[in-house]
Parts: sequence; C-alpha cells; structure tokens
Amino acid sequence: MRYKLLGRSGLRVSELCLGAISFGTEWNSGADKEESRKIFDKFAEAGGNFIDTANRYTEGTSEKFLGEFMGSERDKFVISTKYSLHTKPGDINNGGNSRKNMFRSVDGSLKRLNSDYIDVLYIHMWDFTTPVDEVMRGLDDLIRMGKVHYIAVSDTPAWIVSGAQIMAELRGWSQFVAFQAEYNLIKREAERDILPMCEHFDITCVPWAPIAGGVLSGKYLKDANATGRIKPISMRRNERSNRITAKVVEVADELGVTPAQVAMNWIRQNRYRMIPVVGARSVAQITDSLGCLDFEIPAEKLAELEEFTKIELGFPHDMLQGEQARSLIYGGLFEKLDNHRRR
Ligand SMILES: NC(=O)c1ccc[n+]([C@@H]2O[C@H](COP(=O)([O-])OP(=O)(O)OC[C@H]3O[C@@H](n4cnc5c(N)ncnc54)[C@H](OP(=O)(O)O)[C@@H]3O)[C@@H](O)[C@H]2O)c1
Repeated sequence: MRYKLLGRSGLRVSELCLGAISFGTEWNSGADKEESRKIFDKFAEAGGNFIDTANRYTEGTSEKFLGEFMGSERDKFVISTKYSLHTKPGDINNGGNSRKNMFRSVDGSLKRLNSDYIDVLYIHMWDFTTPVDEVMRGLDDLIRMGKVHYIAVSDTPAWIVSGAQIMAELRGWSQFVAFQAEYNLIKREAERDILPMCEHFDITCVPWAPIAGGVLSGKYLKDANATGRIKPISMRRNERSNRITAKVVEVADELGVTPAQVAMNWIRQNRYRMIPVVGARSVAQITDSLGCLDFEIPAEKLAELEEFTKIELGFPHDMLQGEQARSLIYGGLFEKLDNHRRR
C-alpha cells in the first residue's frame, strides 16, 4: 500500500479507502460483525488506514463497529464520516445541511465511533435549501472546536462546491480536501465538471461504487440471478452496462486478473488524482479487490477501456474543444501554445 496526501492538506491516507456501508446486516446487503471485523483487519494488515462511513450507514451500526474495531488504535486510522441524512423520519430538522442538523449529527457520530474527533467530515448530499455560508461557517466552527479535523463534500453539483470553496478561502475558513462522486467505467459523468473542479481546487476525488456495486465483477453476466445487492431491475444493469462489463471481463482474462481489479485500476490509473472507496461484503471480496495493488493495466488496454466506455461531455465542453471555437479563440495557433492547463 502506498499513501497520498488528501487534497490540499498534510493528511496521509492510504491509496485505497475502505467503504464501511456494508458493515452490519440492517440493510440486508452487509456483513455481520464477525465478517466485518475480518474485512477491517484484512484492510489494515494490507496497510490501509483510510476508512469511510456515514451517520446513516446500517442505521449507525457501521460507525459503532468501526469504533469497536479501532479500539485503542484509533489514532492510527483516518475516519471519514458524513452528515445530512436523517435518522428519524418525520422530524423535519433531523436531515439536511443546516447547522442544527450538522452539530446534532456529528455528536451522534462521535459517540458511535467512540472517538473525540472525526478526521474528515463530509457533507453527504446537498439539500438545496441551507445557505452556503451557514454550512461553511458551521464546518469551520467544528474544526475550531476540535471535533473535526478536515472537511469534504459528496453528491453536490460542481458549481455549488466551487462557490463554497472560494467563499471559505476569502473568509479564512477551512476548505474542502475531498469530494465523493459515483464514478466507475459505467458511470463517467463526473468527467464533465466535477473532476476538472477537483483538479482546479486541489481536492482529491474519492469515487464511490468503483465496481458499480458489484456489477463490474461480471457475476451478473455469468448468472443473471447471482446473489448480490444489485437486483435485475437496477439502473446499473442494462444493455450498456452489460456491454461494458463484458469488455472489462475480456481485459481481465487477457491480463490474468479479476474484473473487479481491472475496474479498480482504471480508477487508480486515471489522469485525475483519485482514491477509490472499495466496498466489500466478505473477506474474500476485499482480498480480491486489494489484488489491484499488484499490477497496472498496460497503456494499450487502458486506451481500449477509455474508448469503449467514453461519454459525450456535452455543452459547453464539446463546443470549446471543437476546431471552430479553437480557431476563433487562438487564431489558428492553438497547437503552438505550450499550456499545461490545456484540455
Ligand atoms: N457518498 C455517497 O453517496 C456514497 C454512496 C454509496 C457508497 N459510498 C461509499 O462507497 C463505498 C463503496 O460503495 P459500494 O459498496 O456501493 O461500491 P462497490 O465497491 O462498487 O461495490 C461493493 C459491492 O460489490 C460486491 N463486491 C465487492 N468486491 C467484490 C469482488 N471483488 N468481486 C465481486 N463482487 C464484489 C459486494 O456486493 P455483493 O456481494 O452484494 O454483490 C460489495 O458490497 C461504500 O462502502 C461507502 O463507504 C458513498
């Protein structure tokens, strides 16, 4: 395992993050305590220190298990958790991005994690109602109080994050160091605005669902009724995802590795700075996924996967990268300008 700095910070995190959404059986798709501990131990033995959870995962069990598993080794780990999702339906202030819910949620997470601090606190999902200054000021206050060390954001449009980041910088508040987006060979929309934004602000992208919840392992291609949490009517299982999965299986067979490892390494070898959040329901799965650390996808296979799975970037990207716009902007000298920011 190698380590990376998280965003524009001095925090050292493992090159893979372990997702703990599957710690606990409350959502019928996770591991029991014994298996969760084995997954945790396997990841830690491999050198992993970066672990992801949320206040809501498995109704709080995920955070509780982590608190127990870390025990006296708490400081060795970098725990990211999230706030925004309600835990009490019918209580209007129990969910969302408000300062009230933020402070309530963080106190609950600290208790369940059995810790005095959270290493990285994410806004889980943008609520489109709380003012940006209320959110950024609240997050900065939590840092000043010592309850949280770094802040991050997930599932939020790039234009909101950009505005928030600049507001924080100008007001001397803490800025985001990480962004969580759904990103994998089947789902590449983050390339339009989210990933360029992360690069621009020196934010590490932490893609979730790197193997599309299990689809890219190829198991549903082999057997449409295979057990797993992605059901046949899922948005992740359709003609396009089947074609992409078949390509991933083909590349994996050629390289003598598993499809899940190919899916992980396509992310790890991405031109943008990324730390995938790897999910596992069993120790066999985490062992398989950790195998991605032992090889690289050769350039020509990477190019094949790129081509096979690419998406249209859409307006304004396609227009601005077109010949006509370039000729209008650069007067025919586009290729002559050495520019590291050029796309
Ligand atoms: N910010 C957000 O909104 C958000 C949303 C979702 C997740 N997350 C985070 O991202 C993490 C990962 O997300 P995820 O669990 O959805 O994504 P994932 O890693 O793409 O999928 C994990 C699932 O795929 C199957 N699997 C894992 N490894 C496998 C292997 N080697 N071979 C075959 N199947 C394998 C298992 O499910 P089955 O055994 O059931 O097939 C496992 O639960 C979560 O734990 C969470 O921390 C964040």
